Amino acid sequence: MSKQEIFRPCDLVIYGALGDLSTRKLLLSLYRLEKAGLLEDQTQIIGVDIHKKDNKGFVKVAQSSLTNFLNEEVDKSVWKKFASRLCYLQIDLTKMDQYKKLKTVINSEQKIMINYFSVAPFLFKHICKGLSQADVLTDESKVVMEKPLGHDLKSSQEINNAFADVFNEDQIFRIDHYLGKETVLNLLALRFANSIFTSNWDHNTIDSIQITVAEEVGIEGRWQYFDQTGQTRDMLQNHLLQILTFIAMEPPVNLEAKSIRREKIKILEALRPITLENVAKKTVRGQYSSGFLKGQEVPSYLEEKGANKESTTESFVALRVDIDNWRWADVPFYLRTGKRLHNKRTEIVINFKQLPHNIFKDSFPDLPANKLVIHLQPKEGIDIQMLNKVPGIGGSIKLQKTKLDLSFSETFKDKKIFGGYERLILEAMHGNPTLFLSRDEIEQAWTWIDSIQDAWEQQNEAPKPYPAGSWGPVASVALLARDGRAWEE
Ligand code: BG6
Repeated sequence: MSKQEIFRPCDLVIYGALGDLSTRKLLLSLYRLEKAGLLEDQTQIIGVDIHKKDNKGFVKVAQSSLTNFLNEEVDKSVWKKFASRLCYLQIDLTKMDQYKKLKTVINSEQKIMINYFSVAPFLFKHICKGLSQADVLTDESKVVMEKPLGHDLKSSQEINNAFADVFNEDQIFRIDHYLGKETVLNLLALRFANSIFTSNWDHNTIDSIQITVAEEVGIEGRWQYFDQTGQTRDMLQNHLLQILTFIAMEPPVNLEAKSIRREKIKILEALRPITLENVAKKTVRGQYSSGFLKGQEVPSYLEEKGANKESTTESFVALRVDIDNWRWADVPFYLRTGKRLHNKRTEIVINFKQLPHNIFKDSFPDLPANKLVIHLQPKEGIDIQMLNKVPGIGGSIKLQKTKLDLSFSETFKDKKIFGGYERLILEAMHGNPTLFLSRDEIEQAWTWIDSIQDAWEQQNEAPKPYPAGSWGPVASVALLARDGRAWEE
């Protein structure tokens, strides 16, 4: 990243500016960047959408987005400055001749054009073509987009090819919003800045690892999209595999994008394929039935608004993942994610091995192994579960399970924790690709996921039901029980 790039203002064009992602997340995050003084003075935000609207109308959209989603009072002077950056263009993105309107607002000589594709993927190739024909791009222009980048390897390659026709790989910024989360980044610090973990992070000391991304939310008006996608493509292919690569990768030589990506891809390549032969033993698909969440009755997946009653799409998936490399030989990674689970919780549990011999048999016949629990959200923190002697004299030494607890909100009280989108938008503006996904990573992840999807298709079994508000189907407990282990609850 060059210094010059950091300080260059941008023309940030949001395609789909009136849509859900833009009004819920992007405009809000941009306002927060403004408040933190992180937007360059000349940076302009151009909303593009199919609906008729003028600049003032777009300012109103931004205003109501802040009213609805900002959890603090809007600062008047910040808002004034922010609103002055906004402008709007009505463009039908499927009509090539309309892209020339961009020329009236873009200043490619002085600013970096950032094209944020906040639209349905079928529009990606139209926008790429429209931009190249409108002659507004330079070598410095960037494109930012996020999933779904296809729903299998083939469709993902098609999307990537459409981008490659117009942009170089180093101009493309593919978002996984989990990589913008403070705690996901902290995994790098935890692993590579602390010698106790660098030397205790392999099959010699670790028994198994669990990654749980539990959601309370159901489908909430996204039934059509979700039903064609399922939890595996929606969450596992991207967010969980990204967390897994951060946990499992070898130390990168430095923090540069290419070094980190190189190590992440090695992990993706080492994932043992799940095929028809082992899919029944290694995976569990579930779908929620009705139940209770926080005392409220909630409908089943098939009773959600717009549902097709015959759907066999999974809203839950759990699996055992093996990584075939030296470091992780015989260390299973258990992954699970689902909608309408007991509570929102993203956490990683590192289960260390039991000690080979117990000298405290009298007070603790079955000496439990240590655990490192990394809480990614909602309450960010880390705890280490260990045994201590209970204070006292006389008799044998008594042990008690205790926790070394590090809560981020307590430890970093005076630090503002930024959301993922603020960080990622800023990094794209600065041209730093470290927190974005490379084409290779995405395609490798699809290759592994496609094999699981194919196996499920051949297996042709309905997903296992689980009551909303539970921790998923009983079969997910059995998945670990077969290996003599249990989920951390
Ligand atoms: C999105 C998925 O990528 O991540 C959603 O499409 C999911 O289905 C969301 O609910 C979860 O994100 P977070 O940040 O709330 O954990």
